[in-house]
Amino acid sequence: MAYGLLKGKKGIISGALDEKSIAWKVALKAKEEGASIVLTNAPIAMRMGEIKKLAEACEAEIIPADATVVEEIENLYTKSMEVLGGKVDFVLHSIGMSPNIRKGKAYGDLNYDWYMKSVDVSALSFHKFLQVAEKMDAINEWGSVVALTYMAAQRTFPFYTDMAEAKAMLESIARSYGYRYGKLKKVRVNTVSQSPTKTTAGTGIGGFDKFYDFADKIAPLGNASADDCADYVITLFSDLTKMVTMQNLFHDGGFVNTGISEDVMGLLD
Ligand SMILES: NC(=O)c1ccc[n+]([C@@H]2O[C@H](COP(=O)([O-])OP(=O)(O)OC[C@H]3O[C@@H](n4cnc5c(N)ncnc54)[C@H](O)[C@@H]3O)[C@@H](O)[C@H]2O)c1
Repeated sequence: MAYGLLKGKKGIISGALDEKSIAWKVALKAKEEGASIVLTNAPIAMRMGEIKKLAEACEAEIIPADATVVEEIENLYTKSMEVLGGKVDFVLHSIGMSPNIRKGKAYGDLNYDWYMKSVDVSALSFHKFLQVAEKMDAINEWGSVVALTYMAAQRTFPFYTDMAEAKAMLESIARSYGYRYGKLKKVRVNTVSQSPTKTTAGTGIGGFDKFYDFADKIAPLGNASADDCADYVITLFSDLTKMVTMQNLFHDGGFVNTGISEDVMGLLD
């Protein structure tokens, strides 16, 4: 059911790779809620062609941009403002990648060039999205910027390796830039810390299926799906949450505050 929460708003949605992507669901719901959007992803992700289906469904243009390259982000905002007919009201950063995780490197055997790449793609890119937007004055007052994160920023999950540091940095950028952009333009910046979700990025992490099941058994509400996450992100883009900023918001069915559950105790019998 649509509520018209984003009626008349314009936004940029990054990170929709295929229909499992969290960003894919956010794009569909943003459209459903009345927004006009543009989609963006790394040029290499375009080759897979899936995003074109989403663009058709959302009547959206696709503007390729490698999120690590400032000039490409500048082009993204310039073209988005052209296509959408003005500044944007919301931006979704749904981007993460670790070469060390892809190659199965243990935390004690990380390749440092790859480590830098993980941080650049998964965290610094968020600062770049914000800094470029500020310099170009590309986001309307009371606009909302959301990035997706994971609880490994606060707690240790052994297979998350260098992405844990990248997420900690991402969340810190949300606080620091949230302060700055709030003062300057009343733009708010938050991160949403999502449950394990069966996407390309998610399932690439070693032991994913086990910790997906474990989280599902710990959280009193179970794991939050990508669709649920999209609903939550839409509320953060809407005016109903306009005083929420600089927060890391857990969207995890209650996992973060649960010590142990009967379900998990049952497994130990
Ligand atoms: N899946 C999970 O379990 C989970 C849990 C919590 C948070 N998250 C976060 O959600 C976000 C979205 O991931 P997802 O699970 O939907 O997986 P996904 O694989 O569908 O999305 C990741 C996206 O990042 C994009 N990307 C990678 N490098 C890029 C670059 N240089 N420039 C631009 N885009 C680039 C990919 O093309 C892809 O579209 C990520 O930040 C991820 O860490 C995922």
